Amino acid sequence: MPSSASSSPGDTAAAPPREPDLQAHFDRTIARDQRVEPRDWMPEGYRRTLIRQIAQHAHSEIIGMQPEGAWITRAPSLRRKAILFAKVQDEAGHGLYLYSAAETLGADRDDLTDRLIEGRQKYSSIFNYPTPTFADVGVIGWFVDGAAICNQVPLCRSSYGPYARAMVRVCKEESFHQRQGYELLRTMMTGTQAQRDMVQDAVDRWWWPSLMMFGPPDDDSPNSAQSMAWRIKRHSNDELRQKFVDMTVPQAEKLGVTLPDPELKWNEERGHHDFGTPDFSELMRVIKGDGPCNAERMARRRTAHEEGAWVREAAAAHAAKQARREEKERAA
Ligand SMILES: [Fe+2]
Ligand SMILES: [Fe+2]
Repeated sequence: MPSSASSSPGDTAAAPPREPDLQAHFDRTIARDQRVEPRDWMPEGYRRTLIRQIAQHAHSEIIGMQPEGAWITRAPSLRRKAILFAKVQDEAGHGLYLYSAAETLGADRDDLTDRLIEGRQKYSSIFNYPTPTFADVGVIGWFVDGAAICNQVPLCRSSYGPYARAMVRVCKEESFHQRQGYELLRTMMTGTQAQRDMVQDAVDRWWWPSLMMFGPPDDDSPNSAQSMAWRIKRHSNDELRQKFVDMTVPQAEKLGVTLPDPELKWNEERGHHDFGTPDFSELMRVIKGDGPCNAERMARRRTAHEEGAWVREAAAAHAAKQARREEKERAA
């Protein structure tokens, strides 16, 4: 693992280092592919970009519990219920690691939650689509968690230490999520014609929104270049989208479903699949709040926050009581 950059400027010198020295040290850390750690000096833009990206990622994990969570009480067997429960619970855990990673940059957890529930900070557009059948649970695992893996594996080498380390564990769990989705679909595909139709219908509805998860095309993605220069991000949106398509096509063939894109075909020369262009105006609409389930997702999150107020109050009262007790013991 690359060594940390936390040992030099700021820690030892009697006279504080000047900003150009700190900037030069930061630039060297990035150039050498070393990690930036919480106590290291970093440019304000780097800190702000990371807080925004990590917070949006955390919000996506938490909101992402809803579309599948809706099926926990209706799962068709005890086994499916247990798997789904574990998966949705993992997503809560991912949210918590990520909020903690944002806190190492000086962000305040309550403030991030407020930004989410007041609609001032975004989450992934994909979670604004409905889950009308149980096949949606399988397709979300296969496509959405699969896309998350494409996005997140390179983040394990992100330049910011706490984010990169959180991603290592998250990616292991995402890989279980993808497999449980695919395994569920394989089971349904060996069932009745109605079940096979249900799978194909879910594939048709989720394919294009899943391709949109990688964000706008590179030419339209102004922040990407800076994020890549800072090595927060390692691959462009279009590179990751291509990787996802190449990974998914053989899986679809094996499963026996058709991906709803007439332009999809192998390009021998490029060594990749060619594919159609997602409707990016739909992506923009959904990001701006006008997707099929935006209002429902936000209302549910707000209610959960309000209903959880007593838990937060009880935890704070308990912590205060414990602090008083420790204080008393120290004084005795
Ligand atoms: Fe996750
Ligand atoms: Fe996941």
